[in-house]
Amino acid sequence: MGSGKAKLDPFACYLALKGIAQSLNSSLPLRQALHLALRSAAKAGGVSGTAIVLLDSSKKHLLHVVSYGLTDWYVRKGLLDVDKSMGESLQGEPVVVLNAATDPRVQYRDLAKRAGITSVLSIPLKDKTEVIGALRAYSHEERHFGKAEIGFFEAVANSCALALESARMLENLEGGHDAPQENMLSAAGASQVLAAELRRPAQFAHPSEEEFAKLLDFYRIEWLYEPRSFALQLEGDNIAEMFTPDFYLPELDLYVELTTMKQSLATDKNRKIRRLRELYPGTNIILLNRSGFAQLLAKYGYGLRGETKVVRVLLSSTQLQRKVRSLGKKISRDYAGKKLVLVGVLKGVVPFLSDLMQNISLPLAVDFMSISYYSEVSGQVKITKDLDTSITDMDVLMVEDIVDTGMTLNYVLNYLRARNPASLKVCALLDKRTRRLADVHLDYVGFEIPDEFLVGYGLDHLGMYRNLPFVGVLSPDAPVHEKATQKEGPEQPCLSRIPPLLSTLPTLSPLTLMLLP
Ligand code: IMP
Ligand code: MG
Repeated sequence: MGSGKAKLDPFACYLALKGIAQSLNSSLPLRQALHLALRSAAKAGGVSGTAIVLLDSSKKHLLHVVSYGLTDWYVRKGLLDVDKSMGESLQGEPVVVLNAATDPRVQYRDLAKRAGITSVLSIPLKDKTEVIGALRAYSHEERHFGKAEIGFFEAVANSCALALESARMLENLEGGHDAPQENMLSAAGASQVLAAELRRPAQFAHPSEEEFAKLLDFYRIEWLYEPRSFALQLEGDNIAEMFTPDFYLPELDLYVELTTMKQSLATDKNRKIRRLRELYPGTNIILLNRSGFAQLLAKYGYGLRGETKVVRVLLSSTQLQRKVRSLGKKISRDYAGKKLVLVGVLKGVVPFLSDLMQNISLPLAVDFMSISYYSEVSGQVKITKDLDTSITDMDVLMVEDIVDTGMTLNYVLNYLRARNPASLKVCALLDKRTRRLADVHLDYVGFEIPDEFLVGYGLDHLGMYRNLPFVGVLSPDAPVHEKATQKEGPEQPCLSRIPPLLSTLPTLSPLTLMLLP
């Protein structure tokens, strides 16, 4: 297997190709079948490692989806830029790199060197005529891949491409995409769906990770589980400390690390994240801690911790009305002469939208939508009530009660944008900016608010509290502050007016229990 000449055993290659075709044509899960194929190919082809990389939806990046014989951190080196990673193989021709440590066509040369990779062969993977990725073979020794070897790996690549293509056809047939125009995925679109599917871990390290993945799926936010390990500390040629964030959300260019376990671990993670930000400036990463995650779930009806809940006033009715008046004035100025339509998502927005429209001194139309929430259905978010009228060529102002992670708004804005309005802006009464995942732009904001679970003025907990004329913090077991409620003046409701439903609220759900220390 030394340098230079190929030493392929034709019979071994024949057996390998036979086995590969068999496993790819079996009922094994695609990932497992591809892994078996890569292993046989590496053994018969006399290389130390093999991998399949697929293009993402932007066609600007490649992603390792299945590999054999490569160190974990090499696979998790992150997204590969098409231009910097043997891009010619995406023009449809095989590419040989003799020395990966020095060849400018290799993006992560230092990592390749550290992983002991010398030569690399990259064969295009084609779905019919469209290139969807590449099959790669890695060798520790310098290797001039000859005609016969390239031919062997091409045969493997073609089998793998066929398996990917048939998985795509299946994906198309089975749908899971409600809008008809979405039904036929392009080869590239499907390769991205497959890439995500193939990278989906068989088992998450923690149930909360699985729940978070479900939540992202629900809001149709693309995610990758642990795609990248960041080296935090080097000792000579060795990596002494690594950090692998749990999720990467490519559309949002955001890494998310969940810490729902021990708080002591969170401290260490905070340190690592600080270090990561120093070493890799421009990397967006957030830490979602236990209480943050518990609140995320509470929002979807999984119940807050604790048995008794009290409401502390955060924004009084007077404060709210004053703000709504000023927002109304601003909007009246900005939309003069335009075809304004206010769009709200039921039901939380009702009090705000109702007050706001009365403070806009312009002719306007109002329309509502409803969408399914995470706790209500499984699968993906759906429009359960569409707009009644067309918004094409209208100046749409999307009115929101509260923007938290931004996932709902992100979905709704994409939906509205596809209907070609003349303009599309957002007015949100409350902005929980610190918890943002999807970085949606808000044009009008009433209040920036802290990371607490709120009720009242349309906001609910398990369907209740919407009728409170103020916005309050719903917290478990918090002491009642008489003074806090009196400060706001005589019109301030007192706590006794809050419906006595506390005893009827569910207490600890399995999910909340999961998050307890
Ligand atoms: P997002 O998708 O995370 O931005 O959540 C937006 C939706 O979650 C809002 O329209 C509300 O219905 C709900 N929500 C977010 N935060 C709260 C809260 O503190 N109390 C009640 N509902 C909330
Ligand atoms: Mg809402």
